[in-house]
Amino acid sequence: MFGSPGAGKGTQSKNIVNNFNLKQVSTGDLLRNEIKLKTNLGKKIEKIINNGELVSDDVVNVLIEKIISDPNNFNRLIFDGYPRNISQIYSLEKILKKFNQKISIVLSLSVDKNIVSKRIGGRIICDKCSKIFNIFFNPPNQKNHECDKKYLKKRHDDDYKTILNRLKTYDIKTKPILDYYKKKGFLRDIDGNQKIDEIYNKIKSILVNIKD
Ligand code: AP5
Ligand code: MG
Repeated sequence: MFGSPGAGKGTQSKNIVNNFNLKQVSTGDLLRNEIKLKTNLGKKIEKIINNGELVSDDVVNVLIEKIISDPNNFNRLIFDGYPRNISQIYSLEKILKKFNQKISIVLSLSVDKNIVSKRIGGRIICDKCSKIFNIFFNPPNQKNHECDKKYLKKRHDDDYKTILNRLKTYDIKTKPILDYYKKKGFLRDIDGNQKIDEIYNKIKSILVNIKD
């Protein structure tokens, strides 16, 4: 699942996981988890994430290899926000080959920049169940969220200055890798400006037609 910050990668990955028997792998979530655990690694990456830059490829590759090598995840992974630069593409290919796996499809959510800032600005996430909400577009209520309100938090990197840097990093380092997947014939571009359900219906129609 590919797209700029706030494009809806996490939201749509969670929808897919709930309906297809897949597992979401968000490198952002994995890295934030390291920060939460206050590991040595977590302390190092906290600064990088809060500056809106990319964490080093070595760190990310280790996390990814651990997941792909687990036989329970065979043929079941949906990567959310990974790979993010050309070097991560090559590492991913090596790891996939090593564990006899392959990419089926790359879904790219295209969203206008003015929409992105409102989406990120209004995002709140439940610390307990990890559900993603938005105070403007998808507010939590008694029907869609069971946990106590006290668990709803903003992300530390969702402040204005960091958002600008994240968007810049995406334009410079991440967006160009789309061409690579386009040439390989994996890429499906999706209009991410629509409503959450409309986007998901489009994704579903693509996924049900994947042959293997
Ligand atoms: P990461 O956590 O991946 O952040 P990101 O790429 O900036 O993307 P977001 O999570 O902000 O957005 P999203 O597309 O998931 O949108 P969401 O569904 O939440 O990475 C964070 C940091 O970690 C990076 O900056 C980097 O430092 C590091 N990192 C991560 N991966 C790395 C890697 N591979 N290598 C190196 N470093 C790495 O939706 C956003 C909001 O909009 C929500 O409130 C949601 O409710 C709402 N919304 C979603 N869809 C819609 C819709 N269609 N209409 C209305 N509202 C919507
Ligand atoms: Mg996300």
